[in-house]
Amino acid sequence: NPLDFSGVWRFRELLPFAPEDKIVTIGEGQTQLQQSEHVAKFVGVDDKNLFLQYEGLNPSGSFKDNGMTAASTHARIVGAKMAACASTGNTSASLAIYSGVTKLFKTIVFVGSGKIAYGKLSQALDYGAVTLQIQGDFDDALKQVREVCRAANIYLCNSVNPFRLEGQKSIMYRVLEGLNWEVPDWIVVPGGNLGNSSAFGKAFIELKELGLIDRVPRLAVINARGANTLYQLVEEKGLSWNGGQPDEALVNEFYQAMDADNRRASTLASAIEINRPVNLMKCLRALDFCDGVVREVDDPEILDGKAQVGAGGLGCEPASGASVAGARLLREQGVIAPSDRVVCILTGHQLKDSTATVEYHMGKNGQSGSSCANSPIQVENDYEK
Ligand code: F0G
Repeated sequence: NPLDFSGVWRFRELLPFAPEDKIVTIGEGQTQLQQSEHVAKFVGVDDKNLFLQYEGLNPSGSFKDNGMTAASTHARIVGAKMAACASTGNTSASLAIYSGVTKLFKTIVFVGSGKIAYGKLSQALDYGAVTLQIQGDFDDALKQVREVCRAANIYLCNSVNPFRLEGQKSIMYRVLEGLNWEVPDWIVVPGGNLGNSSAFGKAFIELKELGLIDRVPRLAVINARGANTLYQLVEEKGLSWNGGQPDEALVNEFYQAMDADNRRASTLASAIEINRPVNLMKCLRALDFCDGVVREVDDPEILDGKAQVGAGGLGCEPASGASVAGARLLREQGVIAPSDRVVCILTGHQLKDSTATVEYHMGKNGQSGSSCANSPIQVENDYEK
């Protein structure tokens, strides 16, 4: 069966919403868990205890393809002729590739002007998506695309779409497969719009209910300090799932204060430069079920984490470095023990944001104290002398 060649649909019994002949697949999810002694040393856990799930190896270079195959499938089921999303770059690249390959629907993407790395912008353009660069950031773009989709009956592919999250559950199935279905102690993931963390929580809730696992890993969601809504709400203000009744007044008050100060998300990890995560409530549920924690790391820590992944031979984009930086922080704080088995999710490919990588190695953005900068050596051309 061709569906067995997809790293998402070979688990189709666990996301059973689509008849097999409607499934849209372009070979997503061919990713596997890899061990990294180099990153283990950096994080501070035992050599064999650190694993990286490199989702950059998907067709469009990020984990989004796991979700977009499912959303595209649902779009086909409902006969959508046009699909749209707002994006910090990877969702738009992913939607654009599915639409470009399958020609099932046309695609419009909304991105914040100057807010998206060139690697990602180039993908949306290359795959033929109508690309709207709006004045504003991701939070503005998402608000706009939701209004446009509602008014013009366009299929919305952001992670408010529950089918996206169904597909993203498969990342956890592959992690467990890589560990012979032995549940790790920690899953560490960067948090932006909180789709992944929500999907992972749902995966574990269902696997436990089905009796396929007998315990669940702890979940660590890592925010960039400049885009730390989840961290502030959960760790500083004590927001929790609270048996399905999270304190919504607290959340509203937080957003009102944010609007009053006109506070904007700001981080070099542009993929997670988000202040209003749409999956906040679902993520609270995941944190509750998986005894989760939230941490924030600053940009130099993120870029350092990313550089260590590169030095270990895989590489990733800045946002993904947050998971490694977050794991290191949790180890320093004694929350993660050296003997814990830790899985860090590398959400995007190393080549997505080459500007950030090169600037790190050249010592820009205050990166002079970085842990493994490898600046290029300028060689004079003196042949003519
Ligand atoms: N890492 C990368 C590389 C991302 O592109 C994103 C989100 C995240 C992490 C955060 O994941 O939203 O599930 O918490 N990128 C979205 C986009 C917002 O538009 O590409 P999340």
